[in-house]
Amino acid sequence: MTITHEDELDGLKAIGRIVANTLQAMGRAMEPGMTTAELDGIGRGLLDRAGAVSAPQSTYGFPGATCISVNEEIAHGVPGGRVIRRGDLVNIDVSASKDGYFADTGATFRVGRVHPGLDRLCRDGRRAMQVGIAQVRSDRPLSAIGTAIGRFAADRGYTLIRNLASHGVGRALHEYPEEIATWPVRGERRRMARGLVLTVEPFLSTGGHWARQGGDGWTLYSEPGAPVVQYEHTVVATDRGAVVVTLPG
Ligand code: CO
Ligand code: CO
Repeated sequence: MTITHEDELDGLKAIGRIVANTLQAMGRAMEPGMTTAELDGIGRGLLDRAGAVSAPQSTYGFPGATCISVNEEIAHGVPGGRVIRRGDLVNIDVSASKDGYFADTGATFRVGRVHPGLDRLCRDGRRAMQVGIAQVRSDRPLSAIGTAIGRFAADRGYTLIRNLASHGVGRALHEYPEEIATWPVRGERRRMARGLVLTVEPFLSTGGHWARQGGDGWTLYSEPGAPVVQYEHTVVATDRGAVVVTLPG
């Protein structure tokens, strides 16, 4: 959506806060021995209490309130009986709607102590998102996001998953502009209108290039197999840069 009135920004910020608080609480509640279904239940309870509806569930019939992806699973992981272990990387993606507004956020969490290379990947994954967000501003080319993130990744020897794009959001989970590359692309002529609502969610990896779907029809895996992290905010393009709406509070 493209925001033109203050009340639209208020509605978006309200659901932005709910998904951010849910993500943060799930990250804090996660502990070794818990199943991903139990963790999802915590998220579902928080969304319910806040009067919000899971977006993947309502939009796509996803079998869970949130997407939880462990280690080799990189996105759209289905909550279930998998037990979370010390040393795991767990990505939680929370998107939901309330009063007709949708927001989307995600983060990769470390369970206990992980390999130092994964610490670095997580830290740089968050920085890659911030590098992309720093490019968001009214009237800038959409391609500036992928150009900047691509440079950041290449300078540090990382790869980017190139078929998991960022997207417009706000009145639906996925809407115009669809498929916003977080990697360098040619031929992208679109610009960020003032008030445009979009996600910035690069998938940074130490070797993965593509996401492929697994046999359950939902879960995505890295091709070739390599650790992948994702950090995601929903932002609004303004004349002064990005306004991040998925902040806890
Ligand atoms: Co998301
Ligand atoms: Co998203």
